[in-house]
Amino acid sequence: MPSGNPSRRQPAVIAPSILSADFARLGEEVRRLEAGGADWVHFDVMDNHYVPNLTMGPMFCEALRPLVRIPLDVHLMVENPDPLIEAFADAGADILSVHPESTRHLDRTLQLIRDRGCRAGVVLNPASPLNWLDHVLERVDLVLLMTVNPGFGGQSFIEPMLDKVRALRDRLDARAAAGGSSIRLQVDGGVNPSNIGLIAAAGADTFVAGSAVFGSPDPDGGYAGVIARLKASAGVTHQA
Ligand code: DX5
Ligand code: ZN
Repeated sequence: MPSGNPSRRQPAVIAPSILSADFARLGEEVRRLEAGGADWVHFDVMDNHYVPNLTMGPMFCEALRPLVRIPLDVHLMVENPDPLIEAFADAGADILSVHPESTRHLDRTLQLIRDRGCRAGVVLNPASPLNWLDHVLERVDLVLLMTVNPGFGGQSFIEPMLDKVRALRDRLDARAAAGGSSIRLQVDGGVNPSNIGLIAAAGADTFVAGSAVFGSPDPDGGYAGVIARLKASAGVTHQA
């Protein structure tokens, strides 16, 4: 059974992560995602300090921004994210999410994201407790629950995270019922057409998928088929 009251949910969003895209053809890849029905493009930014991998900075965002109209969802896995927040906002990012332990002053960082006109997200690693959200939800548009340890695509979904999704769904529903703003519940890591239904039933409404999307191209190289399968399995009946 779905956790909480699904009628209160925001429309589901599929956000493919370009971490698993062909980096030699990133422009083509993001166009194919949009043409295939992706709702957002998920950007994994890694600095080789916060996580043991190194990916893309604001210049990628700036280069790709004019190619698509869908929101650019930037997941910052970096130490000291504040300077990069300015740069990504200038580069056209729409959503910026940070890990609490990566910044000395989380409240200030979230305020900075919103001051720059972006939606603000907080990301919790698998072992990070939900009570880290206690005093910041007023400044948050999205909570991202990591369902793998951050740093690499292609890892397996950590099953016990389903209980964490349910617990957060109950908390967000209670908050919305009390008149609070609606906050998206995003999951990231190991999401695929076989498990997305369970994750949606647990209460997630926003789904990152990297290897599941880029590992299953259509015969013409597009991604409409796998995105449609993800949406159907997540129970999506309409676009965000
Ligand atoms: C991991 C990243 C994820 C990753 C997801 O640190 O935050 O966004 O790209 O990839 P899959 O869907 O392959 O687990
Ligand atoms: Zn991510």
